[in-house]
Amino acid sequence: MSNLIEEINKRRTFAIISHPDAGKTTVTEKLLLYGGAIQLAGAVKGRKADRHATSDWMQMEQERGISVTSSVMQFPYKNVVMNLLDTPGHEDFSEDTYRTLTAVDSALMVIDAAKGVEERTIKLMEVCRLRDTPILSFINKLDREGRDPIDLLDEIEEILKIQCAPMTWPIGMGKRFRGIYHLYNDQVRIFEQVENETAAQGEVIEGLDNPRLDELLGDQAEELREEIELVRGASHAFDLEAFLEGRLTPVFFGSAINNFGLQELLDAFAVYAPPPQCREARERTVCPDEPQLTGFVFKIQANMDPKHRDRIAFMRIVSGQYRKGMTLRHVRIGKDIKIAKALTFLANEREQAETAVAGDIIGLHNHGTIQIGDTFTEGETLKFTGIPNFAPELFRRARLKDPMKMKALHKGLQQLSEEGATQLFRPVMNNDLILGAVGVLQFEVVAQRLKDEYKVACDFEPVSVNTARWVIGPEKEIERFKARVQEHVAYDAADQLVYLAPSRVNLQLMEERWPELQFVATREH
Ligand code: G4P
Repeated sequence: MSNLIEEINKRRTFAIISHPDAGKTTVTEKLLLYGGAIQLAGAVKGRKADRHATSDWMQMEQERGISVTSSVMQFPYKNVVMNLLDTPGHEDFSEDTYRTLTAVDSALMVIDAAKGVEERTIKLMEVCRLRDTPILSFINKLDREGRDPIDLLDEIEEILKIQCAPMTWPIGMGKRFRGIYHLYNDQVRIFEQVENETAAQGEVIEGLDNPRLDELLGDQAEELREEIELVRGASHAFDLEAFLEGRLTPVFFGSAINNFGLQELLDAFAVYAPPPQCREARERTVCPDEPQLTGFVFKIQANMDPKHRDRIAFMRIVSGQYRKGMTLRHVRIGKDIKIAKALTFLANEREQAETAVAGDIIGLHNHGTIQIGDTFTEGETLKFTGIPNFAPELFRRARLKDPMKMKALHKGLQQLSEEGATQLFRPVMNNDLILGAVGVLQFEVVAQRLKDEYKVACDFEPVSVNTARWVIGPEKEIERFKARVQEHVAYDAADQLVYLAPSRVNLQLMEERWPELQFVATREH
């Protein structure tokens, strides 16, 4: 038992949030390198494409050089076990990206030093804020000309509403980039440009006053001393409690491609990032050290193995321990299921799990009975909360090519929406089927899968919906609202009323005109 608690406390389950091109893939590769999964470093993108080469709709992602799928990577670092949950980022951005963030205990934010806070990062931070997830920050690409570090911190504080505590500080940037100073260890690490693949070290100099600094840096040494004095005076000091409450982010600087500055980040991560946390269920709060296994499904992924048309349900273990062959209660349908072979994700390889503990992710084979948000236990009736649907931002109307296939289309869209690929809306006024997604590629994925798995050919055409909000309030008022704006309301797959706003302005007007109603951007499963 005490062994189990020890194992659980080693887990650090996290995701990386960033805007495309800030360096998430590069950082991931380097983290794997530090974690000893060296053979994988430099190959994260390539491997994904190889592995799925034979499936049709994976073909699509391969042609575009992107990955629709996302995975879980487990690797050891010093005395902890990292569980890095990939968050699809480019065209493959989807609701899964958001939902993955509800399954982590902390997040790493990567920011491009030249670009600062970008739009996607803002959105992902909003999701992290739903659970006050602790955030560590890495400001990347210091080997290039970027913005003034103090301005960058101001921008993060202002836009993302989180205090910044610089942990390291860059010495120059671009051509003048010479290294970083660790504000808490009082060490300077000198920058060395490296070829990929090697773990960069660079000379370490103890103490800001060390004459060796003047030898190596010349005038930049004195500039650094002055700057550090200023930074210490003007910025927030690291405060563990504020970090754990999501109010303050420790900030690190470096260059991912040169493997520089990441060691400092990872070391702090291992020490400060929280182990698995307690989680709310409808009935009670569940804590990781409870002996009985509980978990929830945050993602369903189709066709990971093209030879088998099954789907994998990704379950985050909240408490206890998974053992091969154990029986789990699928609470929603009230059935006990023997789990003969679950998947674990050690260093990016799918392996048969012998055991996994709270904080870990396992993959359950799923033939359509598992939905996002489902809870599994060893018999207790529990329903975890906080795994929502997110309001889509892109909308299309499904147009069937063969009208005889209407039934198959309904079935396909319903099932795919349960997997979380897209959301399905049925307007109250007509028989349209409107799909909503947060990433544009999702419509193509759905079209392809409808064709492959349900033998339905269908197109998606534009529709004048800008955003959606679930409508909550007194029943009478909801009925009045529905009657008044009937051409803009619909039901979702769970029969919840949704307002499909033609524009942001319309949404704002509705919020003003219907003060008794709430227009919410997330809905619990
Ligand atoms: P992403 O997953 O967040 O989209 O970013 P990714 O790591 O793919 O990095 C985006 C681009 O930025 C890549 O260049 C990558 O090499 C570059 N990059 C990452 N870290 C650094 C850094 O520390 N310094 C500099 N100068 N560049 C960095 P690319 O040309 O788009 O792709 P590639 O051909 O190099 O793979």
